[in-house]
Amino acid sequence: MNFVGKSIISINDMNKEELDYILVKSKEVKEGKWKNTLSGKIIATLFFEPSTRTRLSFETAILKQNGQIIGFASSDVSSTKKGESLSDSIKNISRYVDAIVMRHPVEGAARRAAEVSNKPIINGGDGANQHPTQTLLDLFTINEVKGHLNNLKIGLMGDLKFGRTIHSLLMALSFYNCEIHFISPELLRVPDYYYDFLKKKNVNFYIHEDFREISKDLDILYCTRIQKERFSDPIEYLKVAGSYKISKEDLKYLGESTYLMHPLPRVDEISPEVDNDRRAIYFDQAENGVYVREALLGLVLGTIK
Ligand code: CP
Repeated sequence: MNFVGKSIISINDMNKEELDYILVKSKEVKEGKWKNTLSGKIIATLFFEPSTRTRLSFETAILKQNGQIIGFASSDVSSTKKGESLSDSIKNISRYVDAIVMRHPVEGAARRAAEVSNKPIINGGDGANQHPTQTLLDLFTINEVKGHLNNLKIGLMGDLKFGRTIHSLLMALSFYNCEIHFISPELLRVPDYYYDFLKKKNVNFYIHEDFREISKDLDILYCTRIQKERFSDPIEYLKVAGSYKISKEDLKYLGESTYLMHPLPRVDEISPEVDNDRRAIYFDQAENGVYVREALLGLVLGTIK
């Protein structure tokens, strides 16, 4: 399996063997097998859109493996503000560093960056499109609690229209013969493109509006925030804001082994009183993001094999 020099832009660019290999290496990182894998490497973290977990877990991963970081957490402090194009910024920064992690509000921005970069680009989220490293840590976490990824029943709930974590995750689940249950208000359903994708892959999927109908049978209930920033019309947002919320009371609708996941940040989809339930594993997900990102950087830079 050779990831050296490869950009990680979309789960759709990867095959099952590659995903499985990254998960194996991530486990080895978590077990402490790999040390100093980024020593002598400089990695740029370019965040043109806000982030807490993705940026800081990548930066933690780099520091843990003794790499060095340059970058910015907001386009306001880069020459984007003066009108520099993304292509020019990437052409320039790729001459400084060994790899670039970037997040951008425009769909396709990471792919465009990869076309002009002579160093690997890792997509930390491009608009409502893809968030492949989130999916890797989601798969890693599911595998930890379930012991495997095959034939699971996965509920994907919330903003399925704009949620890039959903779009990446459903593509990955198609490799593992999972049954997908989409749960959202009608306005927030997955774009048709993804239904067509799943049909082509012969993935069984079902559409629901209320998680209470189905949650007892699920292995995973994966919740997402309604992406207020992606609505062009605030009235449309108000129609769906707060349309679902999991409180401590609602935990009775989950099965004993239905794990509750969320990529975070949350707004009000899951009440904080749920956090102490043993099935709430969203902070484990966030922690696992560090191990997975350590592994991924080592793989694309050829220091983890
Ligand atoms: N899960 C995730 O992408 O979180 P951030 O937006 O905080 O990076």
